[in-house]
Amino acid sequence: MSLTRRQLVGLGAVGAGATVAGGAGLWWSGALGGPRGGRSGSDLVEPATLRSSSGVLDLELDAAPTQLRLGDRTATVWTYNGSLPGPTLRLRPGDTLRVRLRNELPEPTNLHVHGLHVSPRDNGDNPFVSVGPGETFDYVITLPADHPPGTYWYHPHHHGHVADQLAAGLYGAIVVEEPDPLPVTRERVLVVSDLTLDDTGHVAQVSPAEQMMGREGEWVLVNGQRRPRLAVRPGERERWRIVNACPSRFLRLRLAGQDTRVLGHDVGRLVEPEQVDVVDLLPGSRVDLLVESNEGSTTLVAEPVDRGGMGMMGQRSGREEVVDLLDLTTTGRPAPTLPPIPAGPARRDLRQEPVVARRTLDFAMVMGGMGAGGMGSGMGSGAMMDVTINGAVFDPDRLDTQVAHGTVEEWTLTNPGPMDHPVHLHVWPMQVVDDAEHPTWRDVVNVPAGGRTTVRVAFDDFDGRTVYHCHILDHEDLGMMGTIEAV
Ligand code: C2O
Ligand code: CU
Repeated sequence: MSLTRRQLVGLGAVGAGATVAGGAGLWWSGALGGPRGGRSGSDLVEPATLRSSSGVLDLELDAAPTQLRLGDRTATVWTYNGSLPGPTLRLRPGDTLRVRLRNELPEPTNLHVHGLHVSPRDNGDNPFVSVGPGETFDYVITLPADHPPGTYWYHPHHHGHVADQLAAGLYGAIVVEEPDPLPVTRERVLVVSDLTLDDTGHVAQVSPAEQMMGREGEWVLVNGQRRPRLAVRPGERERWRIVNACPSRFLRLRLAGQDTRVLGHDVGRLVEPEQVDVVDLLPGSRVDLLVESNEGSTTLVAEPVDRGGMGMMGQRSGREEVVDLLDLTTTGRPAPTLPPIPAGPARRDLRQEPVVARRTLDFAMVMGGMGAGGMGSGMGSGAMMDVTINGAVFDPDRLDTQVAHGTVEEWTLTNPGPMDHPVHLHVWPMQVVDDAEHPTWRDVVNVPAGGRTTVRVAFDDFDGRTVYHCHILDHEDLGMMGTIEAV
């Protein structure tokens, strides 16, 4: 049975409300200082960059517990290669990425290259791999020669541990370079993440209610820093590659007073950069922003996003404050004017192509298999509801969707519930079926509460088995994931 918003509110009244209230103490505790509290004011630091040479990038990624300074605290987090975020991997289309993943964590993990159009088989971008504590695994991932440029990222994808491992600090950016460099003053990688530390400096545990809502951390970090700053000269044009690595938080980004244009969103480049005031960045999504500086100082902020809610009194799932992410100062002599950004290549438009199959995938939170009498006791254990696709929780041994390699399908993603679900498909990007003049390509699409989103997918280039899921990673860990095989 699917639950409507009203039914969930009703549930809140009989018990979920208590769990939510219990979790609220942790969520809203002011002990660590609020997200707007005080400037940390250090200069922005970017993660180390590892570049391919002669078509190969060979590296070792060690996932391990690490102690770091975060703001004015010592934190025990989990990192790749000791840094938060992990190193930025720079590749060109056609390159091969070889990663030896070494697991020094006390639980299993694995690696996903989010957004890359690469094979899901064997030791490729295979979400079914499990690398146990103390083990290593060698990934070999080859990009096709026509892989779209853009900003992608990597993170763990071991079902049941994904949200915890991201919240703990495991993520890093991947850049697929443009065939020809664009006229910008400089590029920056900005990985946005959030976390909550407990009193001992460890990443806080979350309650079942927080998982049901999708956890949001107290601190929002940019490259592992609290509210760093950077300075530019007037007239400079920077390319900011922004990754939303938060497990659940939707980011509505605003940089008041500066000229901001979207160059790309998730996959490839837009044909024409698009002037914007705000950018909505779903969990898992990336945006490439062109920032042209005017006089003065400003702050990059994340405004609150209403992604729905549940429980008593319409409790919202997202936090409600404006978060200051980064301070930007424009200072010095004006920079020489740069040539305009050349138009990007035309993009494939699946709206013009024949569709071989149509499917509906329903993302719903349904009553768990415990019967009405067990509900009250189920609340405490967190087993209050199942988080499902087409009525089923994830089972890696079940094949949910089989597609024919080389065909185009149209999927209608529906959401009868009270909370948005940002949906991600591995390997193949999705074109949102909309009225836009130029095709809208994404690898995460929002399916709004009580609404639907229609996408088309071209199952090109690869066969094999992989997954689609909600990128509120707590929902994914709770079972909102399905398997797909292209044959
Ligand atoms: Cu970024 Cu399957 O996830
Ligand atoms: Cu979800």
